[in-house]
Amino acid sequence: MKTKATFVRSLLAVAVTGVFGSALAADEPIQPIRPVQQVNLAQVELGKKLYFDPRLSKSGFISCNSCHNLSTGGTDNLKTSIGHNWQQGPINAPTVLNSSLNVAQFWDGRAVDLKAQAGGPIANPGEMAASHTLAVEVLSSIPEYVIEFKQVFGQDKVTIDEVTQAIAEFEKTLVTPNSRFDKWLLGDKDALTATELAGYNLFKTSGCVACHNGSAVGGNSFQKMGVVTPYKTTNTAEGMAGVTGKDADRFKFKVPTLRNVEMTYPYFHDGAAQTLTEAVDIMGRLQLGKKFTAEENAKIVAFLKALTGDQPSFLMPILPPSTDKTPPPKPFG
Ligand code: HEC
Ligand code: HEC
Repeated sequence: MKTKATFVRSLLAVAVTGVFGSALAADEPIQPIRPVQQVNLAQVELGKKLYFDPRLSKSGFISCNSCHNLSTGGTDNLKTSIGHNWQQGPINAPTVLNSSLNVAQFWDGRAVDLKAQAGGPIANPGEMAASHTLAVEVLSSIPEYVIEFKQVFGQDKVTIDEVTQAIAEFEKTLVTPNSRFDKWLLGDKDALTATELAGYNLFKTSGCVACHNGSAVGGNSFQKMGVVTPYKTTNTAEGMAGVTGKDADRFKFKVPTLRNVEMTYPYFHDGAAQTLTEAVDIMGRLQLGKKFTAEENAKIVAFLKALTGDQPSFLMPILPPSTDKTPPPKPFG
């Protein structure tokens, strides 16, 4: 006889079987990444160009891809980013990979979604340092862009709303399915080594999954950094408190996704942990009050490395050239 819980689980298993062809994933706190679905392909193609177009910045030199490099896991691999005029950024750049799965955008969640996020860096004086007016002026001076915007959105005038919509649609395609861990979740028992599997079991039994769960292995909640022991940093970021104004939200940050974490070093909002070994050690002690042995740490790290999925792959977009009317870049000052 089936208890209610097993019955519900078997129903879930059927649902998952339908999508993925396996029943295994339903019992795990982490689900496989689903391949891209339901995107507007015309917007994606336009958004891809905009993502790579440095002319959206004042200098004509910085694109989204400068800090979220799709050749290096959607990050810049720097402690904090370099912005306009070589300015030192205040916080580590999170990956754009699988960012469509986030409950909200930014470490403190101040942007509700990818579209709301995309307008930020273009006008941020410390990042791309343009203005929305300047970005639209630049795009409107390039006939190929004007034609493509019209084809995609059906309007004569290019607007910042369309720019952010297209970029956000492109970002939805930046998911990374087919990691070895996902293959294991989907029933391929040989996809993980014994060490990686032991690492996954430690990840579950130690309590990491309380915060790092779901298909992105994070990205779906805001949690305090330093639950058991306070986190020491010289970085001034306050986390969610900066958005809500509530003292209780001090040092609450969006739990980062651990997908492709092997590629997205350095770690934490201040970029202070250079290696996964260090990040896992700090997480164990500060979040769970647990000191892992070197062997346990290595097993968890091995598991985390099995979370690297298929990276986005496409032809490099070729951007339409500027015209005599295009406002010139201002790389210095
Ligand atoms: C100068 C470097 C830089 C540039 C250029 C830049 N970003 Fe970012 N991006 C960052 C940093 C740093 C953060 C984290 C800021 C924060 O949380 O306060 C971030 C956050 C994000 C996030 C949120 C991810 C998450 O998990 O919360 C997304 C999505 C994103 N950027 C997309 C873009 C897009 C699209 C562009 C181009 C329009 C862009 N970025 C340009 C540095 C940059
Ligand atoms: C109470 C919730 C919570 C628990 C439990 C937890 N984490 Fe985290 N984890 C976070 C938060 C929040 C951050 C971001 C902290 C920051 O940047 O200041 C984070 C960051 C990380 C990072 C760095 C990711 C990046 O891109 O910067 C790794 C790796 C990580 N956690 C692994 C683990 C492991 C392994 C465990 C179990 C030993 C664990 N976490 C337990 C909440 C948690």
